[in-house]
Formats: sequence, structure tokens, C-alpha cells
Amino acid sequence: MEMEPNFADTNPKAGVVGQPLSRVDGRAKVTGAAKYSAEYNQLPGLVHAVLKTSDVARGRITGFDVSAARQVPGVLAIITHENIPKLAKTPNNPQDQQAMGPGAHMGFLPLTSDQVHYAAQPVAIVVADTLERAQHAAALLRVQISPETPVASFRDPKAEEFKPKEGRAAQLPKPRGNAQAAFAGAPIQLTATYEHAINHHNPMEPGATTAHWEAPDRLTVYDATQGIVWTQQALSVMLGLSADQVRVVNKFLGGGFGCKGSVWPHTVLAAQAARAMGRPVKLVLTRPQQFTGMGHREDQDQTLRLGATSEGKLLALLHEKTSTTSPWDAYAETNSKIVDLLYACPAFEATAKLAKANVMTSTFMRAPGEAPGSFAIESLMDDLAYRVGVDPLQIRLLNYADRDPSTGKPWSSKSLKECYARGAELFGWAKRNPKNGQMRQGKLLVGYGMASGTYPVHSGQGNARVRLYADGHAVVQAAATDLGTGTYTVITQTAADALGLAPENIRFELGDSQLPSTIVSGGSMAAGTVSSSVYLAAQDVWQKLTKVAVMDKKSPLFGAKPTDIEANGGRLQLKANPAKGEGFAEIMKRAMMTDLEGSATGRYGAGYESAQAALNAKQDAAGGKDDAAGHSMHSFGAHFCEVHVDPDLGTVRVKRWVSVIGGGRILNPKTARSQIMGGAIMGIGAALMEGTVRDPHLARYTNASLADYHVCVNADIPEMTVEFVDEKDPYINAMGVKGIGEISIVGTSAAVANAIYHATGRRLRSLPITPDKML
Ligand code: MOS
Repeated sequence: MEMEPNFADTNPKAGVVGQPLSRVDGRAKVTGAAKYSAEYNQLPGLVHAVLKTSDVARGRITGFDVSAARQVPGVLAIITHENIPKLAKTPNNPQDQQAMGPGAHMGFLPLTSDQVHYAAQPVAIVVADTLERAQHAAALLRVQISPETPVASFRDPKAEEFKPKEGRAAQLPKPRGNAQAAFAGAPIQLTATYEHAINHHNPMEPGATTAHWEAPDRLTVYDATQGIVWTQQALSVMLGLSADQVRVVNKFLGGGFGCKGSVWPHTVLAAQAARAMGRPVKLVLTRPQQFTGMGHREDQDQTLRLGATSEGKLLALLHEKTSTTSPWDAYAETNSKIVDLLYACPAFEATAKLAKANVMTSTFMRAPGEAPGSFAIESLMDDLAYRVGVDPLQIRLLNYADRDPSTGKPWSSKSLKECYARGAELFGWAKRNPKNGQMRQGKLLVGYGMASGTYPVHSGQGNARVRLYADGHAVVQAAATDLGTGTYTVITQTAADALGLAPENIRFELGDSQLPSTIVSGGSMAAGTVSSSVYLAAQDVWQKLTKVAVMDKKSPLFGAKPTDIEANGGRLQLKANPAKGEGFAEIMKRAMMTDLEGSATGRYGAGYESAQAALNAKQDAAGGKDDAAGHSMHSFGAHFCEVHVDPDLGTVRVKRWVSVIGGGRILNPKTARSQIMGGAIMGIGAALMEGTVRDPHLARYTNASLADYHVCVNADIPEMTVEFVDEKDPYINAMGVKGIGEISIVGTSAAVANAIYHATGRRLRSLPITPDKML
């Protein structure tokens, strides 16, 4: 019997979604029951691996002196490029790297030759029966390297700049209008260069892999990764296995910020070491190795030129970026994307230059491109406001983009005006003295600053499975990861609503490649993709139950047309007469079903009001512009900041903070608030303290530790106010969720710099704004 699909307009209404549910994994985490990738210590015969790294940034390995290291009791192996098991393919070959998929971010794998390309590059793996013995032996291992003079960065006089033709750095937004001419003819012309320090992701949990060959052709890796499927794909190609022969597990992740979005050398090396040993191997990066093992936000300069009318209306924006890449990749975050579309501006042009240096490949770091790009555009818009004598908030409204300026498409939704208005109200923006250097508290200079942010809603795609049991509980599965941000919790809420069950009766399983595959937890895609796929998988369950009910003579729904039936609160009922219907469990029990399984693919495209449309929506081709039914999809937000500056010491303290975000449906306001606070704090860190310094001669990081690389601590952070605009987006995905992992950090460093300008009249364009730059 052919059935009409029954996709009612039934976004979960039961009310669990949108509630500030406490983390369902919270207890496991605070009691230590949560098992991280380095905690699979019960594996039989587990041994410990330590990376020995190069002291020089460039050179050639001429030999190893292993004699002392070998004598350490418990040492089992010293693995170098000379004796490491060969891989089927390495990312060193660009075609092979491509076959590995997006997780194979770095086009060079250590221990594949005698070449040293960057400081702290792994040159050997020491394996021992305990961690301490492996560390001791690694310290005794002597590596002979014939050094060459390294290039430290694009600022190095030896560096050669080039315009990339391929790689991420070549992916620039298209020009529009004649930006050069429009700038040259503009009554107001502003030009400024912005420096961004190297930033390092510092998740609490460093990179960690436990590799276990369960059979000669079957590998399980417990890996600190944001991307289960990406890791599986990249590893399987490297090892010459099919994807199903590589199982990737990650049940708990201690943060990531983008550095766990790719497969880095230590994961591959752990798998190779385990193969060589014939035993499970655990490999954890030390904190210093974390600074040299999983990418970073690249050192970069941006020059922004802005042409405007004398009233402050934009006429032209020209963005140039120069940054450092590795000897073998052409990666740069695309700062110009946000310059392209944040404001209505008829003419735009972007260029990017790279220089190769002896550093490892830089990578995605929270809002790659948008975070540093917003520093440039939102600082210069502030300058424009002062120049034409209007309020900084007003200059932004004057140039408000009602459509996406880069494509001319309408926004799927945009609540930036509401963010500005509500943020200004919460902050008390009206109390701001329009002149700089006027507000004081004792000897401290007080400044108010604000900035806007936007981040794209990337088109993700992913699968989920829902198994509903007749006894009233459900198991929900997707190979997602939870960075600590709340994926476990918000997906539990989604499933609870979709199945009409209490959250306690839902178990959401994630973090295993044996579960239905889904998107990387990156690019702010996880919440929208996974919630949509789970919601649609629940609909699959309803449809199956509908078929059972209408054919069951004992059901009140017997003989009803499936399209006349809706699901609500764990019941199937007639749309026209909701009293007529019955619970899922009754239907299942009469049919002697212990359980019923549904599955679905969640993707982006039209479909908030009609979930069927979401299922069938044509996605833009992979790599194309993120787009839903002809709409440009973005989240927006506004940040407001008060700083106090000590004019004698040059110290800057953030005293108050307000962020208001339009991020689509907010699945859980409690975890969402934490997300926004976390991103804003990271942005304050980038503004005031975070920065790695690479020695210009040695190309080594001089401050690769948390003692020397300063991140915000509690004392640096004031009370923060976070609000969300109630935003219903009918186009993006089945749940109307935009994702908020990254919008939080966009505009934050500019808000701080703008507040400093307001306090002092000094425009600081080099991050981080440390006291030495203030004086
Ligand atoms: Mo993120 S930088 O997309 O993990």
C-alpha cells in the first residue's frame, strides 16, 4: 500500500527545545566518568609513545644516536623515518591528499623523509611501557640535523610573497564595481593596516590519540577530533584501508576551537607506531607540542581602504591581506568575506598574498577569516563614524545591508538592527559621550566601544538514526562530536520534543564512526545539521507509526488518511480533531513491536516550515556559495564593551560586556549563552593578550606554553550580558538553527579596540593591544 509521506508542519512544540536544560553530560564530566581519548587505559598491552621533535626549523636529518635512549628500561622502540611502517599514501602528494578529503589539511607528514621543515617537527617516536620512561628516553635520544637558515614569516626579508592560485588562500570573494576608481573619487578616503598576532588554539585537552589495531586490517582510534568522519576518511586512505576498516571514536572532547577539525601528524604517527608495535599505543601532545602540532591562526597583515561620501555612506572597500603559510600549503583564512558583505557598498575588491616560511600549516581557528577580518572593517567603520561626526552605531545603520551585497540575494533572516537596538539598550549606549577621552573614573580613562559581527551558515549534511522503544525511551545516534559546547544536550532536547518524551528517556549517542555519519563539529554546523537530521529521523518514525495505526482496527486512527494525521507530544492524532488519536507506545504495543527505527539525512535548504522541503531541497554543489533557496544565510550580532584604561601603566581592563545575537532558533539558552561568552572571551584574549612570538632568526616559538601565552582568566573577564533575538528562519534547515559557535568571536576584538579609542583617542591597529603598545 502506497502511503503519502506525512510531513506535517510540526517543528517540535513540546517545549523542551528552547529550555535552559542543564548539560546531560555534566555529571559525567565533573565526576571524571567521562572518558577522553587519552583515557582508554584498559586496552590490553597499551604502551606509551612520545614525540621527539626537531630543535631547528629547517634542515636535514643526518643521523640518530639511540644508544643512551635504548638503555632506558622499558623502552620498546625508537621509530624514525628510517624504520617507520610505510603508508599506502601520504598527504605529501597533492592528489593523494585530495583523496583523503577535507580532514587532511596539512600537505606534509613528518617521518616521511630526512627533511625538517619547521621547528618542533616530529622526527622520532619513542615507545615505552610507561609514559615516564618514554619521556626519559626521548630526552636522551640525540638527533643530528644539518641546519639551514629558516624563513620565519612573511615579514622575514628572505620571504618571497606570491599571489596564490590554489588552496584556501586563493578563494577570495568576487570583486564588484570599480573599487579602485570609486575609492579614488570618494570624498572621504581612509586607509589603515591591521596586524594580527599568531594565535594558538589552546583547548584544555591537547591533541591525543590512542590507536588500537584490533586485527591486521582493522584499526580503532580514540582520537581528540572534531571530525569523526573526516578523520576516518583521511586515515583510511593513508593506511590503505577501506573507511569501514578504520573506526574513530570520540565520546568527549576537551575543546577544539578548530585545531581538532583536521587530522594532524600525531594521529597518523600513533596509528603507525601501534602497527609497528603490534600493541595499542597512546600518544598525547605536551602543551608546548600543542603549539606546534595542530596549526594556529596565521600571522597576518591586512590593509583596508574605505571610500565614503561626506555623510559616511560607503562607496568602496578594498581589502588586501598578506600572511604566512607553510612550505607546502597555500592556506590563509579569508578575512575579506566579511568585508565583502557586512555593509551595503557598491564597489569591493580583495587580494591576498602569501609567503612560505618554515612553520607548520596554519588552520581554522574560531571564525576563520571573520574574526580577524572584522577587526579591520569594524575598526575602520569606527574611524569613519568619528570622521563624519556620527555615532558609531548610526554609521552602521546608515550602511545597513538589506540584501547580501556580494550576491544581491535576500538574507534568509537578519536581525542585526534588533541586535544593535537591544544591545544599546542593555549596555546604556546612550550615556556615551560622543567625544573621546572625556569619560573618567578617578584617574582611569573610560571608553565605550561596539562592533558588529556576522558568520555564514554553512551548508552541512548529516545522517541520524532514532530508535523508539515501546517502553517509552529512545536511543538517538549520529557520529557527531561534542566539543564541550552542548551537542549532547541540545540533541537530547530535539529528540525529546520530536518524540514527545522526557529528556531523561532519551539517550543520544555520538562520537563513533560506526554511527550514522555526519558533519564535522566545525564551521558552526553541528547544531543545525545534527538537530535537523534527528528531527527528520523522528519524522521517519512517525510515518512508520502512521502506517501501522491506520491499518490497525483497534486504533482510533484506523482508516484515517495519513495526511490528516499529525504527531504531537508523543501521540499521533487527527489534525482536525486532536482528541482523536493515541500515543506512540500504544500503537507499538498492540502491533507487538518492541522498537521502531527511523533515519534521515538533514541538510540545509528551504524547510523550516515544511520539513519535507528540507529533505528534498537541492543543496548548492559542495564548495559553492552557501545558499538556501536563493537566500544568503548568515548569523549576525552586536557586541558592546566598556574598558578602563590606566594612562600610567597602559593596562586595559574590560569592565562590562554585552552581546546580542541573531542566530536562528536557540535550542538551549543556557548552553548558547556559554557559547557566546566563550567566544567573546576568546575575542577579548585576541584583542588584549593572545599572541605567539616566532623568533625571527630561528623560526621557533618563544612562548609556547600557557605561562607565556596569555589567555583570559577569570580576573580578566567582567560580568557579561548575552541575549538572543527571537529569530525564525524559514529557509536554512529543518530546525531553523543557524549555529552559534563562531559568531561570538566576530567583532569582539574591534569592540575592544573601539572602546580603547573612545577612552584614549588612540587608535591601536596591532593585536594584541598590550601595555607596551598603549604607552
Ligand atoms: Mo571551527 S574554526 O569551525 O572548529
